[in-house]
Order: sequence, then C-alpha cells, then structure tokens
Amino acid sequence: KRVAILISGRGSNMAALIAAAKEADFPAEIVGVISDKADAAGLLVAEAAGIPIRVVPRSDYSGKEAHDQAIDATLHAFGTEIVCLAGYMRLLTDAFVAEWQGRMINIHPALLPLFRGLDTHRKALAAGVRIHGCTVHFVTAEMDGGPIIAQAAVPVLPDDDADTLAVRVLKAEHRLYPRALKLVAEGKARMVSGATVFDPSTP
Ligand code: GRF
Repeated sequence: KRVAILISGRGSNMAALIAAAKEADFPAEIVGVISDKADAAGLLVAEAAGIPIRVVPRSDYSGKEAHDQAIDATLHAFGTEIVCLAGYMRLLTDAFVAEWQGRMINIHPALLPLFRGLDTHRKALAAGVRIHGCTVHFVTAEMDGGPIIAQAAVPVLPDDDADTLAVRVLKAEHRLYPRALKLVAEGKARMVSGATVFDPSTP
C-alpha cells in the first residue's frame, strides 16, 4: 500500500513509520511526507531518508477548504492509498475527512476515549490514572473520536511529571504506530459503519 504521512513538527512517529516500512516484509511503503509548516524538523528527517517531501502552508490559501484541497491534490499526486497523521496539528475539514474515511489513521498520546485534545500527559497526571498510553484510530469528523485500531499502555510512576511521562508514552507510540499501520495496510483492521472490524486472527 502507498502511504503518505502528514506532519507539523518533530516527526518522530513519522521516522518510526519510515523505518518500519523499510523492512522487506512490511506491507506498505512511505511515498511522501506533507507538512503544513515549512520549518517542521521532521521534513529534514524524511528528506535524509530519501522520502519525497512537500510543504503546503495554510497561509498560502484563502481558507481551510482550499488548504485541505491542496493537501488532497498532493496526496493524489503521490498515489496515496493510506494517510497517516503523525503530529499534524490542524483540524481537517469534513470534506477531507469524508474523502479519506477508512483510509486515514492518527496516533493520539492517550488511552482514548480518555484525554482527547492537547496536553494529554498533564491531564493524565491531574486525573491520577496509574496507567496511561497511546492509541491509533481511524480518523472521523469527531476529533480523537474515531474507532480504535490499537493501543499501548505504560505505567504512570510516582515521580512522573508531564515530560517524563511523555517520553515513556512516545517510546510506546513508536512501537505501536507501525504495528497499527500494518494491520490497516493488510486489511486486517477495517472501518465498517463507524467501527473497527478485525480479522479473526488479529492478536
Ligand atoms: C505525538 O505525541 C503524537 O501522539 C501526537 O503528537 C506528537 C507528535 O510527535 N499526535 P512527533 O512529531 O511524532 O515526534
């Protein structure tokens, strides 16, 4: 499957996907990386890995719709079959989400449905949960509300602050995202009527 990744920043999850996709038996190849920020550090990482990169800045377009249409055109130019959001910090329009529904996935740094939105590690500490983690889900119109594909849990330790917890979760993200993409690329996790349907053999 031809996979494109949308980023806005550091791109460490993007890098994990690129590394996984280089393995001979991985069922997807990363065909391009698109950023809405020209200074996203991840662009340099992608370029160094030989992946085509495109910058599609919001400020070049009159509105959200025109911006998302430009991203959509870029995805089609890459021949994209699956879109991975990896720290893409912009809400997508309903039309864009509808077009890629079932073919677009996101990683969120919390165990959904807990702690949607930003600042998840601070929210987890404030809630006093002893287990935290990350989720890969299909993207729907509801932010961080789409059907879950895979999750990984990490402990919250007594002396954690948001930064130490973020480091532990991020390590889990880098293992989880390639595993979730593999399930989707192989058709072993599919979105059907708003829910994830798994192949019976899926662990
Ligand atoms: C990750 O924590 C991801 O879960 C969230 O934004 C962060 C992006 O980090 N959506 P990176 O750009 O992948 O390093």
